[in-house]
Amino acid sequence: MSTSVHVADLAAHVGEEVTLHGWLQGRRSSGKLHFLQLRDGTGVVQCVVFKGNVTPEVFAEADHLPQETSLAVRGVVKRDERSRLGHELDVRAVEVVARPTREYPLGHKDHGVAFLMEQRHLWLRSQRQVAILRVRATVVRAIREFFDGRGFTLVDAPILTPAACEGTSTLFEVPYFDLGKAFLTQSGQLYMEAAAMALGKVYCLGPTFRAERSKTRRHLTEFWMVEPEVAFLDLAGDMELMESFVSHVVQAALRAHEAELRDVLERDVEKLRQVRPPFPRITYDEAVEVIRRAGHPMTWGDDIGGDEETIVASAYDRPVMVHRYPAAMKAFYFKRDPADPRLALGCDVLAPEGYGEIIGGGQREDDLATLEAALAEHRLPREAFEWYLDLRRYGTVPHAGFGMGVERCVAWICGLHHVRETIPFPRMTERITP
Ligand code: 4AD
Ligand code: MG
Repeated sequence: MSTSVHVADLAAHVGEEVTLHGWLQGRRSSGKLHFLQLRDGTGVVQCVVFKGNVTPEVFAEADHLPQETSLAVRGVVKRDERSRLGHELDVRAVEVVARPTREYPLGHKDHGVAFLMEQRHLWLRSQRQVAILRVRATVVRAIREFFDGRGFTLVDAPILTPAACEGTSTLFEVPYFDLGKAFLTQSGQLYMEAAAMALGKVYCLGPTFRAERSKTRRHLTEFWMVEPEVAFLDLAGDMELMESFVSHVVQAALRAHEAELRDVLERDVEKLRQVRPPFPRITYDEAVEVIRRAGHPMTWGDDIGGDEETIVASAYDRPVMVHRYPAAMKAFYFKRDPADPRLALGCDVLAPEGYGEIIGGGQREDDLATLEAALAEHRLPREAFEWYLDLRRYGTVPHAGFGMGVERCVAWICGLHHVRETIPFPRMTERITP
């Protein structure tokens, strides 16, 4: 009996006979030797089948196994300095767990994105997708680590909600028994504000939904967002929290995955190393100037869209924080700037290299009367927000927070063209399967 091990642990078993369990990723042959590439989720290893070391049946079969055959392979671990894998397996026995019943649709040909998305359940097995999912898992771990280590309490926000948080145009409706309809959450923020008045520093991390018609490389209809909220925090403090948070997440991903980012995803990792505080800070007014100087027409009060974000961000080697937007284009809950009431005390963090907005947030309106007026201005149903107004009735305090989309952050860290590869099973305007 040999020990069962994983590819990632082979270094500890050099010279020993072990058994690996996995899938056949590819193979080639030189007559007397067959080379099987075995993938087990922790890595890929070359298994060398030498005619003299196995039975004639095994040797003959090893040359005909189709891609994605599941296998148990027994052999002796050898160090292999030449290969990037570091080790290989000198095979003694190959046991087929299951042969594919059809030819694998994702062979070694190049496939179009539409086809790959259709085959997402199989596409996940590729080395590139495995690398991305690993980075995503590390990003989520780093997010939790950052807040858990700074006295924040994790508070889960509901998914089914009675009202809009981020504008009524992107709501998904769900029939809800005798109560009529409910909506899938666009953001946990309002609930985090309630929790911050109980616990001081809180965050939620979960799926959020936007019925986005926009078909861009930055939009999903279902995405994961982390949302911290802090009592007795103003916009300046919020922006400091944003920059140390983003830097922590990026550096954690770089530490854990430098080789995969560079070798598998072909990411320029030097660009990530520069992501450290302080981030540059510019006002919306200054951003408008930069955009106009770049020859792009823009009027004060317009939203900074994808192209404009790229213009602003390309002036810096790290994320840039744009603050104090026109209040009219922002959600109802932003606090007005006392120095200029046309402005909202909000801040977006724009990632470099064309990745655009990864964070949106700011200081919340803490005055009851002003908030009531804002609800009316935005034509939001007053009854649905009575509980939220209570937070201003019973010991209101200055408070602030933000939301970061996990997928946009992972797309930037991995250097991907589109957010669709950063989530295991993407949901977009025209895609709900697999
Ligand atoms: O700027 P947004 O809409 O802000 C909020 O939802 C606030 N309530 C957050 C808060 O202050 N607690 O969204 C925040 C972030 C964006 O910066 C972006 O990273 C991501 O969520 N995001 C999306 N990601 C993918 N697909 C979409 N359709 C997204 N919409 C927003
Ligand atoms: Mg935003």
